[in-house]
Amino acid sequence: MENNIILKMEHIFKTFPGVVALDDVHFELRREEVHVLLGENGAGKSTLVKILSGTYQKTSGQMTIFGQEIDIHNPKQAQELGIGIIYQEFNLIPKLSVGENIFLGREQTNHFGVIDQKKILTGAQKILSDLGVDVNARHLVKDLGVAQQQIVEVAKALSLDAKILIMDEPTSALTDREITELFTTIRSLKNKGVAIIYISHRLEELFEIGDRVTVLRDGKYLGTQNICDISKPELIRMMVNRELKAQFPKQKSTIGEEILRVEHLNRSEVLKDINFSVHRGEILGIAGLLGSGRTELARAIFGIDKINSGRIIIKGKRHKIRSPRNAINLGIGFLTEDRKTQGLIMQLSLKNNISLPSVERFSSFGIINNGAEDQAAKRYVKELRIKTPDLNQKVMFLSGGNQQKVVLSKWLCSKADIFIFDEPTRGIDVASRVEIYQLMNRLTAEGVAIIMISSELSEILGMCNRILVMRQGEIISEFLAEETTQEKILQSALGVSAVA
Ligand SMILES: Nc1ncnc2c1ncn2[C@@H]1O[C@H](COP(=O)(O)OP(=O)(O)OP(=O)(O)O)[C@@H](O)[C@H]1O
Ligand SMILES: [Mg+2]
Repeated sequence: MENNIILKMEHIFKTFPGVVALDDVHFELRREEVHVLLGENGAGKSTLVKILSGTYQKTSGQMTIFGQEIDIHNPKQAQELGIGIIYQEFNLIPKLSVGENIFLGREQTNHFGVIDQKKILTGAQKILSDLGVDVNARHLVKDLGVAQQQIVEVAKALSLDAKILIMDEPTSALTDREITELFTTIRSLKNKGVAIIYISHRLEELFEIGDRVTVLRDGKYLGTQNICDISKPELIRMMVNRELKAQFPKQKSTIGEEILRVEHLNRSEVLKDINFSVHRGEILGIAGLLGSGRTELARAIFGIDKINSGRIIIKGKRHKIRSPRNAINLGIGFLTEDRKTQGLIMQLSLKNNISLPSVERFSSFGIINNGAEDQAAKRYVKELRIKTPDLNQKVMFLSGGNQQKVVLSKWLCSKADIFIFDEPTRGIDVASRVEIYQLMNRLTAEGVAIIMISSELSEILGMCNRILVMRQGEIISEFLAEETTQEKILQSALGVSAVA
């Protein structure tokens, strides 16, 4: 094989009704390389890898794998060819255990042909410990956080002995520490001869883990480069084809009166004596490792989880929040970290999803005013550059990042004045991030308060006024953004004392 090329895709086209997702794309993969696929939300990255994994059929074009010209018709065939994929949206079965999920469809049987639970568990546990992660194979997937589910997906792909491993945004739900672990795994896979196709919107990662990069824009192939020959600004220019404003365009806003105060909030073992307040015009960041209680805090305030004790004071008045409906009526909006299960109704259109929390505002006497609904949806499609053929497109057909933009629009449209954003830029491309940050600026200028939970410390430092750090269900420290550093926040989150 020339130059160790194990996979070649040429003149690939893929069309969906009303959308040309891939428009004459080329891609080539060498043995033992990490090849990064880069492009804005909706550029066609997931579509390209889904053609490789047998989920989608190309409309036209040629593919050569291990020297053989071939068409991949279904996922099983892809698996037999040695292609493993970790999808952007998880494909785990919540009711099954971690071990059962890892070996799904390849149940391990004993010599009586009976499913051997013990074999499944020990096999799965071995893969997990080889990965160096602390996940129990017996646990049910439904009890895991997003990051742990991500790890199960990696383990599942590894158990298939893939020679080509595709990772579609594997780190979007992980914090720095887990990303480091994943990268160690990727490097050892590479040394074992595995080639990796890697998709991510975090540009820093590409320079750390990638060997080559292929850039797509609007379904078109823009080129392939060695990572060591290209700079970050060059890559961004190639990707977005327009000048980008500052990465974190934080504007000074006037901090107004207190809008939300939480006092002595407790919830069994997960939240311990939480006290804090947030003011109009303020962006309050919440940092912490996975499992530190950040999302649990948001869920408690929003009325999803019951609290054992504590007071929540909104606009000077004490309220008992018993349900999300309650919270919404009090002006709270919650953008959840897991858009697939909590944020969107996949079968509904973009416009219906956006108007969902505000249905009352769009209807009179029980009849929805389609015009107003359309107008609101149109506005956000434009402001956030949501890539869609029209407002009636079902959100299941939008790309991952564009789905995230719909979740965001939904809450922006709801006219809340206290927003809790849990990982708001997860899966969002570099250009659209800036647009989301600008929207946050506009909201705070209008007197809205934002609580932003994020695993990206640069984003927290770049956009927040004040930062709370959580560890093991407690608020451990508080910093003013301009007076702190990433190291200080991380040390606090990890619970190590500062080195003098
Ligand atoms: N099943 C489908 N039906 C209709 N359109 C689709 C379908 N799958 C993808 N598309 C469209 O194809 C285009 C490319 O989508 P794709 O998911 O490949 O983007 P992406 O580069 O992975 O983006 P992101 O970074 O947001 O994940 C988008 O416009 C998307 O809406
Ligand atoms: Mg995608």
